[in-house]
Amino acid sequence: MAVIEARALVKTFGALRAVDGVDFRVERGETFGLLGPNGAGKTSIMRMLAGLSPISGGQLFLSGLNVAEQSRAVRARLGVVTQADGLDGELTVRQNLEVFGFLIGLSRRQARARADEVLGFFRLRDRGDAEVDELSGGMRRRLAIARALMGEPEVIILDEPSTGLDPESRIRVWEELAELKRADVTLLMSTHYMDEAETLCDRIAIMHSGRILDEGSPPELIKRHAGSAALDIRPDGASREDIRSRLRAAGLPYREVGAIIRVTGGNGGVPRLPALEGVQVSERAANLEDVFLTLAGRGLQEDQP
Ligand SMILES: Nc1ncnc2c1ncn2[C@@H]1O[C@H](COP(=O)(O)OP(=O)(O)O)[C@@H](O)[C@H]1O
Ligand SMILES: [Mg+2]
Repeated sequence: MAVIEARALVKTFGALRAVDGVDFRVERGETFGLLGPNGAGKTSIMRMLAGLSPISGGQLFLSGLNVAEQSRAVRARLGVVTQADGLDGELTVRQNLEVFGFLIGLSRRQARARADEVLGFFRLRDRGDAEVDELSGGMRRRLAIARALMGEPEVIILDEPSTGLDPESRIRVWEELAELKRADVTLLMSTHYMDEAETLCDRIAIMHSGRILDEGSPPELIKRHAGSAALDIRPDGASREDIRSRLRAAGLPYREVGAIIRVTGGNGGVPRLPALEGVQVSERAANLEDVFLTLAGRGLQEDQP
């Protein structure tokens, strides 16, 4: 049995179909990523699962429980990390965890013991007495994740866990998430960072305008949409227009990103370049960004700037 299952799931806001008939399954212990631009519908899916937003159509199950009908039982099995972390800035790190523990029904003694375990797990014990207002953004995010663990959930949902963090804090958050995965917690996360999805997720659903465009492990998606290798061209002295017209003539999808023209192989294979003189071409392994580039060629764009 899948831990999370969505069947023809729909979320409407008036005439807008924010989630437009989505199917996916997440197995126990998996990290599943919803990857897509702003407005794709990622948060809407997570809010429905967390019981924060009514389901407009289709069905959603958590460990076999129907989310629409058994939301209390579902909530007891879930840890939720939203983008607005909802921490109390005037309380200490430890107090935030304990208060949350009471709210989800733990006794004072249980909450204290669990807070201590969670702090230990995240190596935050020495920060237990710090006021949350004094914490860095990265520490706050780690605390928000720690708090989601208070109820010993089977599943944790994380909405853009590293958005807005500096690179070092981001890596720390990734390490915590890897730790949760080792503890066999099932993770459903959203992100618009392709490197994050590639690093953390076992499987990914690429979303756009409320729909899943494709789903698979990062290597599967890369193989399917970007081939094995990609090329970065630095035009240097050569004429960009000349390079563009040669690439178009060769039927190679490309995108100009700053100083670089990126070429992916489209459907499989290493892109073979037409003769280009005086330009620097470097070949590298294709990645999820190239998948996006390829899908973009077929009309995937930012829904909202
Ligand atoms: N409460 C709301 N009322 C009206 N429209 C909303 C509401 N929440 C989200 N939307 C719209 O639904 C679409 C999907 O939003 P969201 O699920 O937040 O996407 P994502 O998390 O992928 O950025 C967007 O067009 C957004 O503007
Ligand atoms: Mg969102």
